[in-house]
Amino acid sequence: MSDFSLRDVQILPATASNYSEVMAISNGINDGLDYLPYKYHEWLADSNRSMFIAKFKGKVVAFLSTLLVDGGITALLQSLRVAPIMRGHGIAGVIRRYALDNLRFKNPDVTKIRATRKENPPAALLKRNSVVHSKAVVSMLLPNNQMEDSIKALRLRVKRDYVGALPVVLSPLEVLDLFENPCTLEHLFPKGLLIWDFLSLAAHKSNLKLLLGSGLLWIYSKSTHSDTPSSSGTQCSHPAPTHINPPPQHPPLPHISPELLSLSSAPIPVPLAKGTHCLNIDLFGTNPRFVQGHILHHLAKQIPVLPPGGSIICVVVAEETLRDAVTDFLQGITPFHIWKHILVLEGSLQNPRHPHIKAKM
Ligand SMILES: CC(C)(COP(=O)(O)OP(=O)(O)OC[C@H]1O[C@@H](n2cnc3c(N)ncnc32)[C@H](O)[C@@H]1OP(=O)(O)O)[C@@H](O)C(=O)NCCC(=O)NCCS
Repeated sequence: MSDFSLRDVQILPATASNYSEVMAISNGINDGLDYLPYKYHEWLADSNRSMFIAKFKGKVVAFLSTLLVDGGITALLQSLRVAPIMRGHGIAGVIRRYALDNLRFKNPDVTKIRATRKENPPAALLKRNSVVHSKAVVSMLLPNNQMEDSIKALRLRVKRDYVGALPVVLSPLEVLDLFENPCTLEHLFPKGLLIWDFLSLAAHKSNLKLLLGSGLLWIYSKSTHSDTPSSSGTQCSHPAPTHINPPPQHPPLPHISPELLSLSSAPIPVPLAKGTHCLNIDLFGTNPRFVQGHILHHLAKQIPVLPPGGSIICVVVAEETLRDAVTDFLQGITPFHIWKHILVLEGSLQNPRHPHIKAKM
């Protein structure tokens, strides 16, 4: 790479015709669970999203996408990647700065950038961003030929151990209602963030259009007084929020929330192997007694008919206090070893009226 200069790197909006080249630099991303191959064309059609490529000598060498959320005040950075042979030369920095400049120019109201990272992000990232949340990740592998037996075993476990109200599937109207209740929001999203499918959104109704338009399965359970062991930690301490981002003095995670909410969408094909699909199940709240019923419900509803030899990688994301409950429930099913945590990083974006303050992420 002796003839390389950053000045020869050109940043352009990504188009449908760049698909193959972007995929060509994406080998092995996210341990084979990269969602970009499946989402690329869908993302191009989203007016809240921007997608950029970097080119060097006419070839695509990097990709980055941004998504405007939280009513237009936050931008999420997603799917950053640099061609393996071009890494370590500053291209990630160049495409990131270009994307952020573009964002600021078009959306002066954006003040924050947020990104979800698996464990151990580089020190440079941690230096200029705060870790605002971390969640546990528990994953399992369900090959086609073991699917029936595994689901059967989980069903028996639920029959044996599950107590309390059965989980209910929420309609869009019921979801809207849930987001009108500040106590419920505080219990389900103690850090004010809804992390779904590795997107970190403010748990605020301004993001419901995006969520409700994504064909998600919403499942909800709530303890009745008779099956709540203690009311400690279930109090609601906040009045209705007046702004999207939670105040920084938010209390620590309550011990056990009375509710549990969970989300999943139809599994998507991933590059790991032919016929392999990834199913993300995101849990919100801290009530362990509902964990089993929710995971089983998502598996039963979402597992598609797969081609012979196919498999599902199921990735459950939950508050750290639920890790044991999730792991215990899935015991005996082949674990799929990927990262154990996801972190949400947040940084501030330069205000166009104060251009001397540098934007970093
Ligand atoms: C992470 C990756 C994009 C870094 O690319 P790179 O060309 O080696 O990085 P550069 O030499 O351009 O320099 C690093 C710059 O990128 C930033 N960076 C490094 N790792 C990063 C990460 N995981 N996420 C965001 N930014 C990152 C650094 O902070 C630095 O910023 P600066 O120039 O403002 O100081 C590259 O290693 C890669 O493609 N990895 C596989 C995909 C991946 O892990 N993507 C990250 C999140 S989805």
